[in-house]
Order: sequence, then C-alpha cells, then structure tokens
Amino acid sequence: MDLAKLAERGKISAIFLADWYVGFDVYGGGLDTMLASGHQVAHLDPVPIISAMAAVTDTVSFAATVSTSYVNPYILARQFSTLDHLTDGRVGWNIVTSYTKGAAKAMGLEKPVEHDERYKIADEYMEVVYKLWESSWADDSVVWSHDLAYDPSKIKKIEHKGKLAFFFQNSGEHNADEHEQENTSPCPAALNSTPPPNEHQCSSKPARVNLGLASRLDTQKPCS
Ligand SMILES: Cc1cc2nc3c(=O)[nH]c(=O)nc-3n(C[C@H](O)[C@H](O)[C@H](O)COP(=O)(O)O)c2cc1C
Repeated sequence: MDLAKLAERGKISAIFLADWYVGFDVYGGGLDTMLASGHQVAHLDPVPIISAMAAVTDTVSFAATVSTSYVNPYILARQFSTLDHLTDGRVGWNIVTSYTKGAAKAMGLEKPVEHDERYKIADEYMEVVYKLWESSWADDSVVWSHDLAYDPSKIKKIEHKGKLAFFFQNSGEHNADEHEQENTSPCPAALNSTPPPNEHQCSSKPARVNLGLASRLDTQKPCS
C-alpha cells in the first residue's frame, strides 16, 4: 500500500504485478536457484493486493497476470469485474498461458499443454470472457427504482459451445453488474505479454494493450 501511495505521489500511471504458479523452474530443472537468491519467490497473489492498493489511491492504475490455463474463465471474468468496481476502472489483466512444468504439476497435470494448443485454448477463453463482460448485462440493466432493482429482460445468459471437448462449455449470466465508467469499455483492459510471431496472439477479440520487453520491440506489432 505504501508502494502504491508512493507511485501516485510520483505521478506513475500504472503498476503491473506479474504472477505465476510455483516459480520458474527452468534453470537447473528446479527452484533451488530462485529460492537461494530470493528471486521471484514467496510471491503473493496480486489480485487481493490490487484491491488493497486501490483503496489508498485515486489515480494510479493496476494490472495483474492471471493464466488462461488454470483459472476458469467465468471465475476470471467475475474477479476482474470485481476489481473494476473496486478500483473504479483502474485495472487491467495480463493474459498469459503459463509454460512452466511446476505450474502444470501443481494443477494436477503431468506437463503443460503444448504451446500452440495452449494459445488456441486462450483464444477461446478470451471469447468467453468478453461475452461475459460485454453481452451478459446490458448497459441499462441496473434500474434500482422503487419496484425494480435489475431489469431481468436486460440480463442474458451467455451460451458458449467450445470447439473441442477440452475447451469451454459455458452457460450462465455474469455475476457482476456493469460498472459505470467514463471510458468506452465496459470491461477491464486486457494486456498481452506474448511475443509475436504467434498465430494466436491476435484473436478475434484481441488484447487492448501489448506488453513487451524493450529488447524485443522489433517483434512487436499491433493486432489487426
Ligand atoms: C513483459 C512480459 C511480462 C510477462 N509476464 C508474465 C507473467 O506475469 N507470468 C507468466 O507466467 N508469464 C509472463 N510472461 C511470459 C509470456 O506470457 C510468454 O509465456 C513468454 O513470453 C513466452 O512466450 P510463449 O508462451 O509464446 O512461448 C511475460 C512476458 C513478457 C514479455
């Protein structure tokens, strides 16, 4: 919270909290090096941290990583709609697919889903999430008059039939009402940190912000 206040005093516009499960167990095939050096370990979940930081700031924005491989899209959509409310529109989601073996094992898999398949799943994941954010609750669904709280005719179940059995089958109304904000988007900003070329990077509903490493700027290109 002190860091967020300091950032705001220093006119920093956004704080990005990266995230992963277990740790980066690539070097040496395990976590020993990271643990010994204290690097990117003992890492707390950024989502509740953002709600605490938002409570003590007004202008600084936040983004957190959540993985399309391990968090159900319905849960993710609700979590970020909640943060959208709590931060008053100051939140973004960094979309990753998680490539480490440790994360896969922690989630009960033998190994991570193969790269291109992971990104196909991520594309479909984005379709589900955007349907929940953009088409479940109409802008004028919140009434709060004497005899009507939410207009049932304006709140739709989203029906998503996945392409493969492994992909998503979703049916249900979003659980968070629309957050009134002045920007044009009814949903949190989606950030992409996947380096091109990746045929699935630009999905039908692309991320609105590309995160990149300065050393790889030549590979960055806008989604069309
Ligand atoms: C700026 C930046 C931020 C990233 N943040 C995360 C992160 O928070 N968590 C994570 O698991 N991966 C993160 N990544 C890794 C990417 O999601 C991606 O997996 C990686 O760049 C390798 O690309 P590939 O998945 O196409 O092999 C980040 C990458 C970049 C360039």
